[in-house]
Amino acid sequence: MVQRRSFIPAFSLPLGVYDLELGEDFNSDLITFIDSLRQDTGNAQRSSVGGWRNEGNFFAQQNEAVQTLRRACIDVALGYLQECAANLPPEGRAEIFGWANWNGKGHFNTPHRHPGWDVCGCYYVRQPDATDMKSGSIEFLDHRNIPKKQLRLGGPVYSQSIELRPKPGELVVFPPMVSHWVPPNQGDDPRVVIAWNLNLENK
Ligand SMILES: [Fe+2]
Repeated sequence: MVQRRSFIPAFSLPLGVYDLELGEDFNSDLITFIDSLRQDTGNAQRSSVGGWRNEGNFFAQQNEAVQTLRRACIDVALGYLQECAANLPPEGRAEIFGWANWNGKGHFNTPHRHPGWDVCGCYYVRQPDATDMKSGSIEFLDHRNIPKKQLRLGGPVYSQSIELRPKPGELVVFPPMVSHWVPPNQGDDPRVVIAWNLNLENK
């Protein structure tokens, strides 16, 4: 009888999806707050084509919902790193930088990575109510140049891309090395996401 000694997901790019269970009222409060920022402040577009992104660190906003989300994202990020068997500093603190994205019809984000950070995430506040599954999805792209023949095997190891369509209230967590993009929103409803980067700091 064969006994497995280990199975190492070597050099993997784990994608975690978490339900934060903060409730619909929480997301409504967040939408109201983000919309007020959108009306009153500038647009710091980066990888987004069309759409709006707040300037500065979203998590510095002194708003109850924002601060609740900030704490939840840090907790999940630390749990994600533990699952990755990462070396966590015993008395480390986390620095988190977030931004709100508001993407309307036709808006999208070009492929990019998040260099210089330890772990990244996106919290979905609102998703377009479109029948087209591409609207509201995020696609992660492989950079290993997997030979075409092996693509028939599929699954997370033998694929070139993985597409997720998170529900409102869900948080996607991923490593900074994985390229990803957001297909154009085909619906009339906006896609509203809080994206963030986190670094562990030694005390
Ligand atoms: Fe991103």
